[in-house]
Amino acid sequence: MLNGKKIVLGVSGGIAAYKAAALTSKLVQKGAEVHVIMTASAKEFITELTLQSLSRNPVYTDTFDERDASVVSHINLADTADLVLVAPATANVIAKMAHGLADDMLTTTLLATTAPVMVAPAMNVHMYEHPAVIHNMNTLYSRGVHFIEPGVGQLACGYVGKGRLEEPETIVDVIERFFGEEEAGKPLLGKKMVVTAGGTIERIDPVRYITNDSSGKMGVAFAKTAKDMGAEVTLIAANIQVKYPEGITVVPVQSADDMHQAVFERLEQSDIVVKAAAVADYRPMEAAKQKIKKSGETLTLELVKTVDILEALGKAKTHQFLIGFAAETNDLELHAASKLERKNADLIVANDVTQEGVGFGTDTNAVKIFDKQGLVKEIPVTAKEEVARQVLLIAASRMDGRK
Ligand code: PMT
Repeated sequence: MLNGKKIVLGVSGGIAAYKAAALTSKLVQKGAEVHVIMTASAKEFITELTLQSLSRNPVYTDTFDERDASVVSHINLADTADLVLVAPATANVIAKMAHGLADDMLTTTLLATTAPVMVAPAMNVHMYEHPAVIHNMNTLYSRGVHFIEPGVGQLACGYVGKGRLEEPETIVDVIERFFGEEEAGKPLLGKKMVVTAGGTIERIDPVRYITNDSSGKMGVAFAKTAKDMGAEVTLIAANIQVKYPEGITVVPVQSADDMHQAVFERLEQSDIVVKAAAVADYRPMEAAKQKIKKSGETLTLELVKTVDILEALGKAKTHQFLIGFAAETNDLELHAASKLERKNADLIVANDVTQEGVGFGTDTNAVKIFDKQGLVKEIPVTAKEEVARQVLLIAASRMDGRK
């Protein structure tokens, strides 16, 4: 899988730098051409000679140490890499990447490359949880950087917690999977996804109900696109007005309660849940068993709140990547941020449904995608399939290394 792949391995200065030796060796054994760049602090933990011997290539440490007059080393490495991997990545190098600093060989290469970038952080558990580090990692996520999450265990600093560099074997597995999926164009290969689509039906009596304008097109676009990207998809469809997509398991439901049950039955096995459905917020307290007869001049229906499925998912999720929607007519950013927070979603896809070609019933949509840090991406009016593709690409890049 890695035959002929040129991997630039950036090693920054943490105790886990010693693992760069095993990582280099395993990558070379898999056929990769490995070019190591070390930061000045990395050299305090491991020697250039070790990594040079294992990679069988010169190790770069100094931007100004130009050995070949025909090229500028950091530009040449940046241009020819198939992947730039930073392992271990310290909080410091992550901060520099997030802010675009380029003051050594590694960070200049990172700034100059257009190749995919993968980062395997390693640091003290409190550093890893620090809001500044989280903010920097989210900034990098939103730029499409792939992360290999650190493992949990005994750290060199004495703490037990999350922050240990993932084992070299696992990092190599993630890289192999990455190239395999990239080549197959299937970044969601092996992932199981549940998508909800359509508008729920809340019965008033056997012949009447409350629903909304959702056609199911947005959810179906997600289901089809995710399947094309390699995911195994289950579509939970509430009253959808379009043909069921081929090759996708469809579970028809009616009410918010039905949808809640159908989603939760599949939650544990799912990697991604997309809540594109328009779910009723209220339902009649009682659905009459028989048709309600016309009587007085007015009729009062008592409505009660339905279960908020997305909010329940946000509380119950373990490893699942949760994508919610927000259909808004005003103050889109404000409402989207509040829904993201309250419902603990990983992403909220917000659409202003008052706009032409946006939201209910249309073949197109325009959305703003938010995460906990704010706006990740704005997509102008485009086909719903393309909206789905762009959202799913963000999800796929953020799921690397998730267990
Ligand atoms: O189906 P189409 O015709 O293609 O239209 C697409 C769409 C407009 C329906 C879609 O783009 C969209 O915005 N879907 C979400 C509609 C909605 O219910 O938005 P909301 O802001 O009311 O809800 C926020 C989120 O909470 C949504 O992910 C919703 O699925 C979820 N929710 C809401 C209420 C509830 N009881 N349970 C929920 O899970």
